[in-house]
Amino acid sequence: MEENKKYYITTPIYYPSGDFHVGTCYCTLMADTLARYKRLRGYDVFFMTGTDEHGQKIEEKAKARGITPKEFVDEFVAKAKDLWKVLDISYDKYMRTTYDHHVKAVQQIFEKLLAKGDIYKGEYTGLYCTPCESFWTETQLVDGKCPDCGREVKEVKEESYFFKLSKYKDRLLEYYEEHPEFLEPEKRKNEMIKNFFDKGLEDLCVTRTTIDWGIRVPSDPKHTVYVWLDALTNYITGLGYTTDEDERFKKYWPADVHLVGKEIFRFHSIIWPAILMALDLPLPKKVFGHGWLVVNGNKISKSFGNYKDPRVYIRDTSVDALRYYLIKEVTFGEDGNFSEDLFIEKVNSDLSNDLGNLVSRVTAMAEKYNNGIIIKNDNLPIEDIDKDLIDTAKQTILNFEEKMDNLKTNDAIAEIWKLISKANKYIDLSTPWILAKQENKDRLNQVLYNLVETIRIVTIPLQSFFVDTPKKIFDQIGVSSEETTWDSAKEFGVLKDGTKVSKGEILFPRIDKSEELFKVEEEKEEVQEDEEDRKGIISIDELDKVELKVGQIKEVEKVAKSKKLYKLQVDVGEKELRTIVSGLVPYYTEEELAGKQVVVVTNLQPAKLCGVESNGMLLAAGDYDVVKLLVLDNNNGTLENGANIH
Ligand code: MSP
Repeated sequence: MEENKKYYITTPIYYPSGDFHVGTCYCTLMADTLARYKRLRGYDVFFMTGTDEHGQKIEEKAKARGITPKEFVDEFVAKAKDLWKVLDISYDKYMRTTYDHHVKAVQQIFEKLLAKGDIYKGEYTGLYCTPCESFWTETQLVDGKCPDCGREVKEVKEESYFFKLSKYKDRLLEYYEEHPEFLEPEKRKNEMIKNFFDKGLEDLCVTRTTIDWGIRVPSDPKHTVYVWLDALTNYITGLGYTTDEDERFKKYWPADVHLVGKEIFRFHSIIWPAILMALDLPLPKKVFGHGWLVVNGNKISKSFGNYKDPRVYIRDTSVDALRYYLIKEVTFGEDGNFSEDLFIEKVNSDLSNDLGNLVSRVTAMAEKYNNGIIIKNDNLPIEDIDKDLIDTAKQTILNFEEKMDNLKTNDAIAEIWKLISKANKYIDLSTPWILAKQENKDRLNQVLYNLVETIRIVTIPLQSFFVDTPKKIFDQIGVSSEETTWDSAKEFGVLKDGTKVSKGEILFPRIDKSEELFKVEEEKEEVQEDEEDRKGIISIDELDKVELKVGQIKEVEKVAKSKKLYKLQVDVGEKELRTIVSGLVPYYTEEELAGKQVVVVTNLQPAKLCGVESNGMLLAAGDYDVVKLLVLDNNNGTLENGANIH
């Protein structure tokens, strides 16, 4: 590996707020795509994501739950890692600001800047937005409220340490001028300069005396380091900066790109470079501010109630389908509308029709006409339609590289789809079925070779953003590892003579729009619950309100129009059987359920699910992938249906 072929990419470190939705996944997915792309190009990639774990909000939330802040953030980190696993995020390090090495490094950085005079003690009077953990000046407020979230701010006065941000104003402006590629997209850079530099750059308050849950200032421990100095420095402390184990820092810093959402772009383009200048460290090569995923113009977020757990989409389609939609349909750098209808349309048109059909038609024809054997014959004349296909194929990967290197991810994917649609047209123009009828074996073999070779070339760059599909395609077209290297996609004719292809499973099954999709009703409690809403401990009286009984499942039938729901008739010791609707279809067959004695909540308010009234709920454990009913073991005799459970 060449020494200079390193690529360090980061996402922001997330606040443990508990509401992961497709919007919050977006940045991580984009970073993952770029990391995968660079790895395919032979770069030594270091991809870091993580969590921003200090601050008042976390302290308060943990208190409300009756747990320690550390327990609170540990819980969130487990959830985040779980989601990144489902989405197959290929990060190299999960960074946490509660790591010991981070805490020590921030303390050293603080003392260094203090000794240098870049941090000084003063008094802070400011307007503070607690949910955003941001201080604002009067002029920055919008209608007297926080400009980011629109909530009330409160006046706060206290002894604080300040970072001399104003000192770096001119150097920053000079740097932007001399490095036009540093901040992207251009329009965000201009907006940021206009909004923040034109009004003057104030020194930044970097400590608090009122927040316990933070990194202590060693020389003045009643102060804790306040948010941005703690959070931003993760990009270097995560590499071992200030420790004895700083090989990664030496190797990967400066970062090649920090990907961030547009609302935190200014922190990364003003405060972060100024801190680095104060530390005499090189600046990252690029900060890229992407837009938000919106639904009907509103940012997807908990406050708008327009979010769903991404797993709901994956459950009804696939990881690759969701990844494709987010990466292709949201222009990188702009806001993008997240529409469930459009998502379904795109899966059906781009994935199922264009890509899926190409692979299944070609492999099916190869099997039908030549037992799956692909013949290479370089002595045959090349027709115009062949030349057109070959030229496009050879150009595709070059165009893809150029677009990806300039972070034009949408255009890059479009290049692949141009080739896919050309290949589909090539089938119509070359009419293999007629060649077969005419017994024109040579031409038929040539056409099949060109098609399989094109599929091979298409699939190599697809590996940048798909995580399951490329392997499935490579298996179906029977290629070996040397036929899937990046550079092999630049040549047409690499596929070996005698390659054996076989038709495999359908890559992207069509989605039936009339089915009920992306429903969260049944998971409402798991998906939409937020730590903020939890009230913590309940009393025994409150627990007593829940009536739990032994019930036996007597009849099972599927609910029409639902992929998940069973309509069950359950004997809970009453005169009549109870109808209970339960989302167990993915986990149990009808036979497995019939006759089981289970735990039933019998005093739950009736609810209609897919048109069927449900009177109660079966208790089950688990989440999405694995769900297990709580079943009575009946080892030493049985309990009567309707027996109370305490
Ligand atoms: N902790 C800070 C970042 C510190 S980085 C040194 C933070 N965390 S966050 O959890 O609030 O946001 C993390 C990222 O999620 C941000 O980049 C933010 O823009 C992104 N998103 C949250 N909702 C989003 C959408 N609806 N759409 C796209 N990205 C969004 O900020």
